Amino acid sequence: MPAKQRKIAMMGYRSVGKSSLIIQFVEGQFVDSYDPTIESTFTKPIRLNSTDYEVKLVDTAGQDEYSIFPAQYSMDFHGYVLVYSITSSKSFQIVQIIYDKLLDIVGKVHVPIVLVGNKTDLHTERKISTEEGKRLAEKWKAAFVETSAKQNESVSDVFDEMLSEIERADGNLQEKTACVVC
Ligand code: GTP
Ligand code: MG
Repeated sequence: MPAKQRKIAMMGYRSVGKSSLIIQFVEGQFVDSYDPTIESTFTKPIRLNSTDYEVKLVDTAGQDEYSIFPAQYSMDFHGYVLVYSITSSKSFQIVQIIYDKLLDIVGKVHVPIVLVGNKTDLHTERKISTEEGKRLAEKWKAAFVETSAKQNESVSDVFDEMLSEIERADGNLQEKTACVVC
């Protein structure tokens, strides 16, 4: 079977680590310096549950509360990774603004989303608790992962969860909470 093509957008406030997560995942590296993204695309083959995927990751320029949702990210995308930094309350507000705009523009009730709280290595600077992140993801019926791009902590889980969310939206996977005997 040919690899399934999947196109995923990484979105979130500036400097939360969108590029760092992608670079860690695709290239296995972490860069300390900050180089704001304009837009770049990465491709990576992933094998998950005996299925081959070719995943196109679109790394976006950070959004803020004034950004208009970029129209080019509303079509042809299978899923969205919305990233905040656990050290920034502002970035946590921004993912919620992006989410509202995304649903408005995509016009679907359910969009495959993974909510990511990055920079867990900076635990002394934590502003957003794991609980808060989890609660928001539950509200959205999205997957939730806390990561450190720096320490390569749970980074690949983000993309595995994303592919699973997309399969679930396609009806190819059981709901996480589905009861198999009832
Ligand atoms: P824009 O492209 O401007 O939207 O930013 P971005 O979200 O792509 O953030 P980027 O990956 O460029 O990271 C911003 C800064 O945070 C850089 O200095 C990174 O080194 C740092 N950074 C990213 N992830 C982590 C992490 O997990 N831990 C720590 N300590 N620093 C991180
Ligand atoms: Mg970037």
